[in-house]
Amino acid sequence: MFNNFMDPDHFFSRRCVWVNGPVIVGAGPSGLAVGACLKEQGIPFVILEKADCIASLWQKRTYDRLKLHLPKQFCQLPLFPFPDHYPEYPTKKQFIDYLESYAHHFEISPQFNECVQSAKYDEACGLWRVKTVSSNHGSEVEYICQWLVVATGENAERVVPDIDGLKQFKGEVLHACDYKSGEKFCGKKVLVVGCGNSGMEVSLDLCNHEAQPSMVVRSSVHVLPREIFGKSTFELAMFMLKWIPLWLVDKILLVLAWFILGNIEKYGIKRPSVGPLLLKNTRGKTPVLDIGALEKIRSGEINVVPEIKRFSCGMVEFVDGEMLEIDAVVLATGYCSNVPYWLQETEFFSKDGFSKSPFPDGWKGKEGLYAVGFSKRGLSGASAEAMKIAQDIGKVWKEDLNQKKQKVPTHRRCISQF
Ligand SMILES: Cc1cc2nc3c(=O)[nH]c(=O)nc-3n(C[C@H](O)[C@H](O)[C@H](O)COP(=O)(O)OP(=O)(O)OC[C@H]3O[C@@H](n4cnc5c(N)ncnc54)[C@H](O)[C@@H]3O)c2cc1C
Ligand SMILES: NC(=O)c1ccc[n+]([C@@H]2O[C@H](COP(=O)([O-])OP(=O)(O)OC[C@H]3O[C@@H](n4cnc5c(N)ncnc54)[C@H](OP(=O)(O)O)[C@@H]3O)[C@@H](O)[C@H]2O)c1
Repeated sequence: MFNNFMDPDHFFSRRCVWVNGPVIVGAGPSGLAVGACLKEQGIPFVILEKADCIASLWQKRTYDRLKLHLPKQFCQLPLFPFPDHYPEYPTKKQFIDYLESYAHHFEISPQFNECVQSAKYDEACGLWRVKTVSSNHGSEVEYICQWLVVATGENAERVVPDIDGLKQFKGEVLHACDYKSGEKFCGKKVLVVGCGNSGMEVSLDLCNHEAQPSMVVRSSVHVLPREIFGKSTFELAMFMLKWIPLWLVDKILLVLAWFILGNIEKYGIKRPSVGPLLLKNTRGKTPVLDIGALEKIRSGEINVVPEIKRFSCGMVEFVDGEMLEIDAVVLATGYCSNVPYWLQETEFFSKDGFSKSPFPDGWKGKEGLYAVGFSKRGLSGASAEAMKIAQDIGKVWKEDLNQKKQKVPTHRRCISQF
C-alpha cells in the first residue's frame, strides 16, 4: 500500500519538496540564529516564515518607543556581535537593522509568506512532513525533512481576554501588538489592561503624549529598576547567581528594589509572594523592568485600577464597584505560542505550546525535533539553544558525510527531483 505522500492523488495535489537538511519554522531571532549556526558548519536548511519579512514581531507588532530592556551583550545572536557604536540598550530600529545585517551576513534567505499549517512525523518513512500554505496565492507545499526546528516564538499570537461587555464597548479597542504610539490618543482617557512590560510602557507612552491612562493591575507583579547603581539589574542578578543561590539573589534584588523604588504596594501594585527570578523560572512571568512608568504612577499621571468587572457603552466598571469613563482600551494582556495549532505532536510540547522539559533540557525532542526560543529566557536563552541545536544536527550530518552513506532512500530522491 502507498504511504500517504506516495499516494499519486496526494502527490499531485500539492508540490512536494525534499529538504536536504533541517526545516526551521519561523524567521525571528531564534530561527535566524539556528540558520547562522548551521551555515557555519556548511549544513543546508530551509526557513519557512509566514510574514513577508524577517523578525515580524519586531517589525510589525511592536510600538515605536520600544528598546531592548536588557544590555546588548545579552541580546546579540551567535557569531555576530552588535556594532560597537550601538548603545547599551539598542532601540527597536537598531535591533531590526542588526537582524537584517545578520541575515545578510550569513546569506539567510527565508521562504516568506509561507505559513506552516501542520507538521507531523511520518513513522513509516522516518521523516517530518511539513505542510504550508502561501499567504500570497493560497498554493500549498509539503516539505519533507529529517529535522524540524520549531522557532515560532513564545509570543506568536495575541491573548485577547473575554471580558463582559468588551465586544459592545463603543470606543477603540486594540491589542498592544497593534499599538504604535500615544500620539492619536492625545487628550483621551485610555484604559490599559495589564501591567507587564507592555502595559507599563504603553501607559508611560500614553502619558508622554498627553493622554490619560488608567492601568489595570489584576493580580501582582514584580517591578524592578532597570539599573541598580548604574549597573543593569539583569547583569547584576546574573553575576550574583554565579556565587549565591537563586533564593538569596531574589531577596537581595527585592531589598535593592525597595531602596530604589520604595514601597510600591501603596500605589496599588502588589508584589507576588515568590521572588522575581524564581517566578520567571517556574511560571515564565517576566518582572517589569521600570523605565519611568513608576514615577508617573507616583505622580498620579498613570491611574492604577483593579480588575475589570464589565464594560458598558463608554464606561468600565471595576470589581470594587468604581466606574470610569473611557475613550479607548489597549489590551496589554500578553501573548501565547501557536505550536499546538500546527504541530501534531504531544510528547515534547505541552498543550500551551512550550517544551515540557524545563530549561536547560527543553531544546531537543525525539525523531529530529527541536525547539528554540521556548525556554522563557529571551534572546540570550534562544542564542544558547540555537548553538546546541546546530551542533547536534551537525554531528549526525558529519557522520553521514564521513561514512559517505547517504541515508536518503530511493523514494526520497524521487521527491527531491520532482
Ligand atoms: C514588545 C516585546 C518586547 C520584547 N523585548 C525583549 C527584549 O528586550 N529582550 C528579550 O530577550 N526578549 C524580548 N522580547 C521577547 C521576544 O519575543 C523574543 O526575545 C524574541 O523576539 C524571540 O524571538 P523568536 O524568534 O523566538 O520569536 P519571534 O520573534 O516571535 O519570531 C517567530 C517568527 O515565527 C513566525 N511564525 C509564527 N508562526 C508561524 C507559522 N505557523 N509558520 C511560519 N512562520 C511562523 C512569526 O511570523 C515570527 O516571524 C520581547 C517581546 C515583546 C512582545
Ligand atoms: N522593553 C521590552 O523589552 C519589553 C517590552 C514589552 C514586553 N516585553 C516582553 O514581552 C513579553 C510579553 O510581555 P507583555 O507585557 O506583553 O505580557 P505579559 O508579561 O504576559 O503580561 C500580561 C499582563 O496582562 C494581564 N492580564 C491578562 N489578562 C487580563 C485580564 N483579563 N484582566 C486584567 N489583566 C489581564 C496580566 O495580569 P496577570 O498577571 O494577573 O495575569 C499581566 O499583567 C514579556 O516577555 C516581556 O518581558 C519586553
